[in-house]
Amino acid sequence: MKPFFSIIIISILIWSCTTSNKSNISMKPNIEEIQTEKKVTTLLAKMTLREKAGQMLNIGLPTVLTGDYWDEREKAVFDAERFKKYIIDLNVGSIHNTPGYLADNKEWYRIVKTIQDSAIKKSRLGIPVLYGIDNIHGANYVAGSVMFPHQIAMAATWNPELTEMSAKITSYESKSASLPWNFNPNADIAMSPLWGRISESFGEDPYLVSEMTNAYVRGSQQNELGNKENSAVCLKHFLGYGAGRNGKDRANAIIPENNLREYFLPPFEKAIAEGAKGVMISSNAVNGIPCHSNKYYITDILKGELGFKGVVISDFSDIQFLIEAHQTAKDMREATKLAVNAGLDLLMNPYDAKVVDIIVDLVENNEIPMSRIDDAVTRVLRLKFELNLFETPYNNPSDFKDFGSEKHIAKNYKSASEAITLLKNENEILPLKKSKKVLVTGYSANSINVLNGAWSRTFLGQDTQYNDTTKLTILDAIKKEVGASNVQYVEGTNYLEDINTSLVVSKAKNVDYIVVCVGELPATEKPSDINELDLPKAQQNLVKKLAALNKPIILVMVQGRPRIIREIEPLVDGIIMGYYPGQEGGSAISDVLFGNINPSGKLPYTYPKFSGNYLTYYHKKTDIRDVNWGYNGFYPQFEFGYGLSYSKFEVSNLKINKDTISLSEELNISIDVKNTSSIKGKEVIQLYLSDLVASVSPDSKKLVRFSKIELNPSEVKTVTFKLNKKDLMFIGADNKWIVEDGEFEMLVGGNPSKMLSEKFLYKKYVN
Ligand code: BGC
Repeated sequence: MKPFFSIIIISILIWSCTTSNKSNISMKPNIEEIQTEKKVTTLLAKMTLREKAGQMLNIGLPTVLTGDYWDEREKAVFDAERFKKYIIDLNVGSIHNTPGYLADNKEWYRIVKTIQDSAIKKSRLGIPVLYGIDNIHGANYVAGSVMFPHQIAMAATWNPELTEMSAKITSYESKSASLPWNFNPNADIAMSPLWGRISESFGEDPYLVSEMTNAYVRGSQQNELGNKENSAVCLKHFLGYGAGRNGKDRANAIIPENNLREYFLPPFEKAIAEGAKGVMISSNAVNGIPCHSNKYYITDILKGELGFKGVVISDFSDIQFLIEAHQTAKDMREATKLAVNAGLDLLMNPYDAKVVDIIVDLVENNEIPMSRIDDAVTRVLRLKFELNLFETPYNNPSDFKDFGSEKHIAKNYKSASEAITLLKNENEILPLKKSKKVLVTGYSANSINVLNGAWSRTFLGQDTQYNDTTKLTILDAIKKEVGASNVQYVEGTNYLEDINTSLVVSKAKNVDYIVVCVGELPATEKPSDINELDLPKAQQNLVKKLAALNKPIILVMVQGRPRIIREIEPLVDGIIMGYYPGQEGGSAISDVLFGNINPSGKLPYTYPKFSGNYLTYYHKKTDIRDVNWGYNGFYPQFEFGYGLSYSKFEVSNLKINKDTISLSEELNISIDVKNTSSIKGKEVIQLYLSDLVASVSPDSKKLVRFSKIELNPSEVKTVTFKLNKKDLMFIGADNKWIVEDGEFEMLVGGNPSKMLSEKFLYKKYVN
């Protein structure tokens, strides 16, 4: 056998062994996969060490443009010398980031085509570049695209189909701009409400996060990466990013092994089994070990246990941060050695290619084995072949007729309207009557930027120059609904300060309703860190002053985090959580206020009442011990899974088909849900399990199933679920999944305070 063919066979063998891991990836590679592996191996065999190291580098686009990296530009002009160095001579593996201005898909086409044509036609081996971007709520970096609600709002829909559809549209609109790799979805478990990036996550619950993450993967990749409309995902941030001990971005997290496996790992594990092609490593450290140099996490768990065959990329400048922020490496050489040996395939070193020479030197000095480099490059090349970049390195925007279309806008509106969560409706003040006079005020009332949040045309989303003037703010939408002459508007406050609250109070005297729109300054990453979870005082004071008038007040919250509103909650009659609802959010919020939309969102996190009393809904009983030694020490403002509707729902008849299950037996559950009102509406039936006695102190309860249904007035529907042994498992003292004989309680219903319960036994062997 020629040596060349034996390499191919060995590589296929290694590859099929990894696929036979416990994840659901098919055990046997199909023909297409075998052909891809053959192409990868053939190409790899031709590469020099330096070319391989070049494939492991991800730079920022501005590095090949004229000017300084962070310059704001009007047009991307390629710097001839830099372009030759990175794209042709080095044939760099991957590029990310924007050109420093908002490009439309034609401009992206020009940029990507210029890069790919040279990479393919002028570099020695003709390898296309893998372009990655953060199109995290729609193709937000492509002018004219639809911008969906942020992930936290998509989670609040409790409707994975909507998430799947939003990912499909995001992929389509990204591909219209020749952007094939999306740095999304975010599979983090957001453990602290302080963390600014909770808005980019699907919330605090591992099951809900997993369901939504998998829906996103399906929508984006469609199981067919070669198709021109589909794009590869990049799950982030591996691992424990949402658990920073101080609630800040990129902070150290303390995560014991059992918690890691029970809460943080499952969303990644399931999404990888679903076929996710990329994983981004988290910037933070866990237990003091930076994730970027954690070989146990990356090589043993991610690539080993989970059988991940895709690309593992570092986060922005994080090799540098091993030196500067984590202080675990003394220089770039040591940092690179740690990161590559830990298992990283692509290094996001935005500004230069120094790391390429460092990798070459480390390999030549036997400090990084060649097998590690080959593993990394194989993964990068594999993804490029799977994405069909060698054949179709860019797409003609005119082939994407549905880009920014009414059809896509309608789906976006549907997502926003299903996300909005009604948290209070005293005396059924909502929906508001359209014939009355309304005062609209507050920081988020007339802002497109607050509705869109960060990652909206610009990184922080605070710049107004790119706002689409056809989109409605909450104020615009209310005026459209009830007529401008019925609406008064006074700004009231900005994010932190009073502007003209006295004027608001005087204007409010002549109206029937007051709609106070509060919110957060759009921000992400470090700029989103806050020290105080309370809604800023100025915004709370506005509500307090208005409350003295004794008129109905509706509080509308447009924010990524649950900000504490304990003092103003009793002063208002209605509360609507809009999260960051995206471009159609103004219309959707107004439509909920006036009853054109019946709200159906449910909180994807626990909404705290006190900053000193925060826990996720799943916690240990000891965590909620109170000062009287009772167990009433957990009193959130609103519970996880809570959300009202204009309809009224009743649950009854909770039934299980047996009271004991064993081994592979299934438990069938059914519950009747009735719409007792005269309004058609949607309800989310949630099923939680509590293990009543376990060798490791069990969680209070955990979500194991949910189903969103729609009911006509007076209609009754029976919702059914099936559970099995897997749902009863937890991580035992030896850090492995186990199930123990004993009693379990299930709670089933639409709102946490009105759940029906049943008990059953699990017995490994039934006599
Ligand atoms: C963020 C990532 C993002 C990356 C690339 C980082 O700073 O943490 O979420 O994907 O930048 O833009």
